[in-house]
Amino acid sequence: VFASVVQAPEDPILGVTVAYNKDQSPVKLNLGVGAYRTEEGKPLVLNVVRKAEQMLVNDQSRVKEYLPITGLADFNKLSAKLIFGANSPAIQENRVTTVQCLSGTGSLRVGAEFLARHYHEKTIYIPQPTWGNHPKVFTLAGLSVKSYRYYDPSTRGLDFSGLLEDLGSAPSGAIVLLHACAHNPTGVDPTSDQWEQIRQLMRSKGLLPFFDSAYQGFASGNLDADAESIRLFVADGGECLAAQSYAKNMGLYGERVGALSIVCKTADVATRVESQLKLVIRPMFSNPPIHGASIVATILKDGDMYTEWSVELKAMADRIISMRQQLYDALCARGTPGDWSHIIKQIGMFTFTGLNTNQVAFMTKEYHIYMTSDGRISMAGLSSKTVPHLADAIHAAVTS
Ligand code: LMR
Repeated sequence: VFASVVQAPEDPILGVTVAYNKDQSPVKLNLGVGAYRTEEGKPLVLNVVRKAEQMLVNDQSRVKEYLPITGLADFNKLSAKLIFGANSPAIQENRVTTVQCLSGTGSLRVGAEFLARHYHEKTIYIPQPTWGNHPKVFTLAGLSVKSYRYYDPSTRGLDFSGLLEDLGSAPSGAIVLLHACAHNPTGVDPTSDQWEQIRQLMRSKGLLPFFDSAYQGFASGNLDADAESIRLFVADGGECLAAQSYAKNMGLYGERVGALSIVCKTADVATRVESQLKLVIRPMFSNPPIHGASIVATILKDGDMYTEWSVELKAMADRIISMRQQLYDALCARGTPGDWSHIIKQIGMFTFTGLNTNQVAFMTKEYHIYMTSDGRISMAGLSSKTVPHLADAIHAAVTS
């Protein structure tokens, strides 16, 4: 009965790892998926996470019962505080509902399904380009996806006038997907002034912000600074949605820990919104897993552990920043044609190199370097040892 099923293509990002795993070369390098690696090229489990896990294991009172549909209550409260700020009026006024979801993707999907059911405008505008999974998540949730200009290849920076023009002509009430910080894949973020202009335009047109926050702490190394864009929108008293992931900033990739928050106008509305979120979640995954959320809650509620986490997080962010500098220096040293200053200007996990599909294919074939075909490289996958190999490959790709 399944004989007519056709072979589906690999995922454009996760499929890069599949191809990498098949490569037998000793010099192979995976710069595809955004996953942090140490200087030795190994995955990292944060010390503070190990500590939290040990505490959980030692606590004999812990059981494996189902969580409520909305997840672990402590985790939800602490996640809202982390993203909106400890003194957020929206939290104090009980206008925020937060539900635990399956990392960033699951949070986006639950938020999108809620909007498809209960929000009058079904169109969501996503930046061009954006994370490859965004259009699929929103389309399958029942929203109609359109894009707004974001990146200007000629400047390798933000196309701010294009962005304002496209959002300015979006229908009033449309949903707008915004990357809270460290835009994926470009590493290009609006400045604080530009965020303020975006906010004014969106509020004046009644556009609904849906933030994707996958990198809080990774852009600048500072958890508060990386949440500034969201806090700007929440400070004006208006509504917004925020999807949070702990994959990168706590290194909890495979634990699938995330949260969806919806900021409403009143506490009463927030209560009703939460009741509807439960109707989205229950048939989707019933209730979320307990382990990862317990790790996060243990760390966020303890002052010392929180500090330890911020120090480890800053160390990851700083290592990525130093990789940017090393790659830039290596290309300058080789006299590689072109201006590579965007490598040190862009922020977050990724550099959007400007290399084209053919150049990427060349680097994979000749140098065993794996990256997404749009020329995005994960700086977090690089180390001092592998920078020269990458610089050689880029040099060869642009000069051959
Ligand atoms: C990425 O963009 O590489 C990450 O967000 C991982 C993923 O799920 O695609």
